[in-house]
Amino acid sequence: MSYYNALKLIFFTILLTSINSSTALQNQINSNSVLVALLDSHYTELSELVEKALLLQTLEQTVSHHNITIFAPNNEALEKQMDPEFKRFLLEPRNLKSLQNLLLFHIIPSRVGSNEWPADETHHKTLYESDNHLQLTRGKSGEKIVGGVAKLTRPDDVTRPDGLIHGIERLLVPRSVQEDFNRRRSLTSISAVLPEGAPVVDPRTHRLKKPAAPVPAGAPPVLPIYDAMAPGPSLAPAPAPGPGGSHRHFDGESQVKDFIHTLLHYGGYNELADILVNLTSLATEMGRLVSEGYVLTVLAPNDEAMAKLTTDELSDPGAPEQIMYYHLIPEYQTEESMYNSVRRFGKVQYDTLRLPHKVVAEEADGSVKFGQGEGSAYLFDPDIYTDGRISVQGIDGVLFPVEEMKEKPASKVSPATVTKVVDKQRRGKLLEVACSIGGALGRFTSCN
Ligand SMILES: *[C@@H]1O[C@H](CO)[C@@H](O)[C@H](O)[C@H]1NC(C)=O
Ligand SMILES: *[C@@H]1O[C@H](CO)[C@@H](O)[C@H](O)[C@H]1NC(C)=O
Repeated sequence: MSYYNALKLIFFTILLTSINSSTALQNQINSNSVLVALLDSHYTELSELVEKALLLQTLEQTVSHHNITIFAPNNEALEKQMDPEFKRFLLEPRNLKSLQNLLLFHIIPSRVGSNEWPADETHHKTLYESDNHLQLTRGKSGEKIVGGVAKLTRPDDVTRPDGLIHGIERLLVPRSVQEDFNRRRSLTSISAVLPEGAPVVDPRTHRLKKPAAPVPAGAPPVLPIYDAMAPGPSLAPAPAPGPGGSHRHFDGESQVKDFIHTLLHYGGYNELADILVNLTSLATEMGRLVSEGYVLTVLAPNDEAMAKLTTDELSDPGAPEQIMYYHLIPEYQTEESMYNSVRRFGKVQYDTLRLPHKVVAEEADGSVKFGQGEGSAYLFDPDIYTDGRISVQGIDGVLFPVEEMKEKPASKVSPATVTKVVDKQRRGKLLEVACSIGGALGRFTSCN
């Protein structure tokens, strides 16, 4: 063993010994302590949060110096009554500090039994070290209230020599934690907010009345996405990808290429990838929008879903593009964000790039279901591609606007019109039709 290794070993031995002796010290907590009682109590949700917040050591040190009074929200308050989004926020490792602050806000470093409850409003410092105070008050009929909102439902529920626990009916949220939560939540929606002094759009041309001032990189785009889209998305020839001007924030074209590659590697999405490669106008348009700072979520039907498309559904000029535009949502959504919204709100409508049609989503079988009735599709392969600008979510059906499904029930009802061919042969079917139509109109250059 080298001299260096020997030194290292000695160092580690010392380190380990000191760790052992310090845990030994901490293990001396009295089994009669209010902390032990808390962990054994029926406040199981609160105990779990205290452990998750890694607060036990801090609290052990506290009770070795003072009595403490814990205001303990009951399980119901922490399970059913708590906003699930807020709970998720608290449990994210990066928000540990918020969770700790929230819990410490429920503990005051002194003993206030219910018989010592003040007659008039008093303020107590809590273990949360900023200058947050909890006020203890009484309601009209003398009931004891903490933090102005929570009634004591079980006063002196647990009493021990070093402290006591009052059961309360709800969680107390210090303002700073609420602010952290709001800040985090609004970060995701910032890209949807128009900057101040939003430019005026000429209603006739759908263009800006005055050229917009240059937008700093990373700022949200100045126009709603519909105004930024090329006029008549399915009809306009694709503009040639211009040189990256100064107004560009992102290299949208390469991001679109990236996600098409990802689709190809992922497997099961070849048909869609083909379309995106070959319908250059669509891919270019997507790239351009992303370059200008817009975000997109692609609901990507898998190959099996694409294979079920009928010739009918594809025969109208521009139909393939219309179908694709209905699968583009001008928002950045991940599986998690969509699942959370459908869980919270039941049904959620997303705008699509196929104006004015929206796509409905709801929770079903622990997943997200898009569309309605026969024409619905499940979120099947979540988060195939997510780069902060473009998100691709695999679905197991092709979606049509509700209005359209009512218009042509024939293709849905009569199985005779459904061309059922094996996947392999069908690969590129949609594209073929698109190309023949496009070819006839002399529009798509890369079909042949
Ligand atoms: C906690 O309170 C009890 C009763 O008031 C008292 O006897 C005890 O010394 C206090 N403990 C500490 C650590 O201050
Ligand atoms: C584009 O279309 C052509 C002809 O329809 C097809 O042969 C080719 O494979 C398609 N491109 C890709 C990348 O799939």
